[in-house]
Amino acid sequence: MLISGRGSNMDAILAAIKSGRIRNAKPCIVISNKPGTAGLKIASEKYKVPTKVIPSDGLKGWHYDQNVVTILHEHGVTAQSGLVCLAGFMRIMSPEFIRQYRMRIMNIHPALLPAFPGLHAQKQALDYGVKVSGCTVHFVDEGIDSGPVILQKAVPVIERDDEESLSARILEQEHELYPEAVRLFCEGRIKIDGRRVSIV
Ligand code: GAR
Repeated sequence: MLISGRGSNMDAILAAIKSGRIRNAKPCIVISNKPGTAGLKIASEKYKVPTKVIPSDGLKGWHYDQNVVTILHEHGVTAQSGLVCLAGFMRIMSPEFIRQYRMRIMNIHPALLPAFPGLHAQKQALDYGVKVSGCTVHFVDEGIDSGPVILQKAVPVIERDDEESLSARILEQEHELYPEAVRLFCEGRIKIDGRRVSIV
């Protein structure tokens, strides 16, 4: 799992594995590009999952990502059997990384893609004035939040919402949706046909 901060989605996935809701999954490693994040503490103290900080140090693209691949391999996360979950990981993965783990990298995004990709999705939704937003779990491809959609959940936008209240309402659903997508993946129930993902 790759994180950059709070790690609440990571927490939700690890909790689902611990409780047995997700079976056939072993959390191998949590990697953060930032030191001292709350997510790192949750992973190591609450779940006893190994953690590693790989600081960005100005490294771009594959120069950074190859360090991630090395650590993933060291912890048994392979292109044949692994799953890489981006959970609030605020870096764009390089094409080389995506090629290594094609259709084995998932991301959660706090909007109903393809609406409002990129940063500050909840603010984008508010500024646009939509009445419904939500969250999306998708496979990662070479674009920004553009890979095949696995699951989505709609969330109403209400008149008095600000960025904080809308983000909180969406986050609650993220914590349901992401573990569910991981569960389906681990049960081998996700079928991909081009852009179309079906649950079998
Ligand atoms: C989540 O809301 C996630 O959807 C968002 O960052 C937050 C991370 O929270 N991700 C993106 O915006 C990616 N484009 P968390 O660290 O508590 O899981």
